[in-house]
Amino acid sequence: MDQYLYSYGPMIACQWAALGKGISLTSAPVRLVDYGCGQGLAGLLLYDQFGDAFATMLRKVVLVEPSPVALVRAEAIYQNVAPDSEMFCVNKGFDEVTFGDLEVEEGLATIHVFSNVLDIKGFDQFRLLGEIMTDGVHTILAVSHDRDFDGGTERIRSLKAALEDPSHADALTVSHSEMAEFRCGPGDKYPVVSWHVEVEVRSNG
Ligand SMILES: C[S@@+](CC[C@H](N)C(=O)[O-])C[C@H]1O[C@@H](n2cnc3c(N)ncnc32)[C@H](O)[C@@H]1O
Repeated sequence: MDQYLYSYGPMIACQWAALGKGISLTSAPVRLVDYGCGQGLAGLLLYDQFGDAFATMLRKVVLVEPSPVALVRAEAIYQNVAPDSEMFCVNKGFDEVTFGDLEVEEGLATIHVFSNVLDIKGFDQFRLLGEIMTDGVHTILAVSHDRDFDGGTERIRSLKAALEDPSHADALTVSHSEMAEFRCGPGDKYPVVSWHVEVEVRSNG
């Protein structure tokens, strides 16, 4: 984890700095789910950017991560960022996660964080999206290394297409779905893909 932080920390910091410029936070309480949270860098970087506005909106934080060691560090990070929020750790791979693991609460909006995970092949990203799109208001914030091999950006593009598929229009109102490919970091050395979604789900719609 320390090596990862040293090697990839600067890349992940510039990814979130760029995505964060395009989003605004409301003051409404939320459930935040950080998928493949690793050691919790996304939460730390969102806190760096938005400070207490971010921390105080977190009523519930759900961390999904198969590595127990990383999960311990991520939980400590999020607890420091938002000491008053409820913390839940889900020590599972994505293919085993169901909506029942994710502390869904009626009427509570959700921010779904995918930091350098949607590009990783080896799990069914469509199944996961289906599990997490419960009734209510959702924000999806995703960043990844922009690449066209071994998984990569195509997995995010295909999810975007699935979410925007008109056949789901009765149940999903997508008010924003913006994918961007750009570079950041010193000398623009990091290719980045980001995806920001605002969607409302009504299963009986
Ligand atoms: C590149 S790291 C990103 C970690 C963290 N989100 C960040 O930005 O620093 C990928 C993370 O996804 C997790 N991961 C990889 N495949 C997974 C899967 N199939 N199910 C759940 N988590 C997975 C790994 O354990 C790792 O923590």
